[in-house]
Amino acid sequence: MANVCVIGAQWGDEGKGKVVDWLASRADVVVRFQGGHNAGHTLVVGDQTYKLSLLPSGLVRGKLGIIGNGVVIDPEALLGEIDRVSAQGLTVTPATLRIAENAALILPLHPALDRAREAARGEARIGTTGRGIGPAYEDKVARRAIRVCDLAEPETLSAKLDELLLHHNTLLRGLGAEPFTKDTLLAQLQSVAPRLLPFSEPVWERLADMRRAGRRILFEGAQAVMLDVDHGTYPFVTSSNTVAATAAAGAGIGPAAIGFVLGIAKAYTTRVGAGPFPTELHDATGHLLGERGHEFGTVTGRPRRCGWFDAALVRQAVKVGGIAGLALTKLDVLDGLPELKLCTGYRIGGTVLRHVPAGKAAQAAAVPQYEAIEGWMGSTRGARSWADLPAQAIKYVRRIEELVEAPVTLLSTSPERDDTILVRDPFEG
Ligand code: GDP
Ligand code: IMO
Ligand code: MG
Repeated sequence: MANVCVIGAQWGDEGKGKVVDWLASRADVVVRFQGGHNAGHTLVVGDQTYKLSLLPSGLVRGKLGIIGNGVVIDPEALLGEIDRVSAQGLTVTPATLRIAENAALILPLHPALDRAREAARGEARIGTTGRGIGPAYEDKVARRAIRVCDLAEPETLSAKLDELLLHHNTLLRGLGAEPFTKDTLLAQLQSVAPRLLPFSEPVWERLADMRRAGRRILFEGAQAVMLDVDHGTYPFVTSSNTVAATAAAGAGIGPAAIGFVLGIAKAYTTRVGAGPFPTELHDATGHLLGERGHEFGTVTGRPRRCGWFDAALVRQAVKVGGIAGLALTKLDVLDGLPELKLCTGYRIGGTVLRHVPAGKAAQAAAVPQYEAIEGWMGSTRGARSWADLPAQAIKYVRRIEELVEAPVTLLSTSPERDDTILVRDPFEG
């Protein structure tokens, strides 16, 4: 029995939350391994809608959730989210949620720096979520981060904050933003410590035990391969690795434990924030996809940019992300469109490429090469078996499989948990 790792195969918001929630019924534990509260995962269960940013999506099924060391944690955001979902009836206690003691924290100076830098960039901004993700990862790599375990060593916090403030206040002042005082930060850390520490432990030990006992682990990725700091459309990316390989380092488990890698892709493409998007539609069809797909960012409320399915991009995500099967979501949004387009590569000057070029200028210059495919008039909305799908919708899925060189192992046909068609059980490997 394999473990499963779910990752985004485009630029995020593919429906990872829905798929993780659906798969979680057969998992014993769900593990977040990278990103932070820049993620927004929406789960629709009957008349309840859950919006999760840091909490693993399995909590909605009552499954144990683990926040791995690769995640950057904003304590206020986490505690706020716990309060919010608790008010919706979920149980989040140290019995249902464990947090890696060696995960780095996001402090108020991180979003402040994130926003000040974005403002200074002006037109050249990345369009970050403004939540301090980049600055927090920078501090982790620079070895000056405050981690969950540091809350248990209050006598060390003052010196650690001195080091952080030396760096951040210099930058903040230079950018014309308000500097922070040590007292404010210290008070915040002291106030969250008693609530956060009961969740903290060496999660690698628990995961090793569960693995030895044959428990099923479901790794829940955030963001997506094209937002990966190495493999994405740099510099318009997030600040973590989002590929499946990260699940091992970001949870504290060996790579063999990752198991089946399920890539999630929408049946079209969206992107929030700035950066290249070759198949973006600025016309009525793009508008229609946005309206029908309710394409507004969960975290920032920004309208998502919409466009045709980019098979060249997903093929690349399949290769670098180690994707063994795809879950194709939001097929229903394409219902009734007379003709669809699939991008098979890009023309840049006189050359045609089958992959996203690495350079920023080349990415911006990439002109998509399309093949057209007939749409379908019937409805796929809510379909729960292949037999419910119009023949042309099946042809569309089959063509995607050929172009991206991976099988579609799961189809999603509405936001609802059970409107899902299983082709191959990823837990069977
Ligand atoms: P994530 O970040 O990858 O978890 O995706 P988000 O939750 O940010 O965005 C996906 C949105 O699409 C959510 O509002 C989901 O409820 C919704 N969704 C997921 N699957 C489907 C589907 O098959 N059809 C439709 N119409 N909506 C879906
Ligand atoms: P989920 O998990 C879509 C984008 C931001 C911005 C870039 C960098 O819901 O799929 P950051 O705040 O991470 O430094 O912003 O990455 N971004 C996302 N886009 N879905 C997400 O997460 C995202 N997380 C970050 O919009 O372009
Ligand atoms: Mg999202």
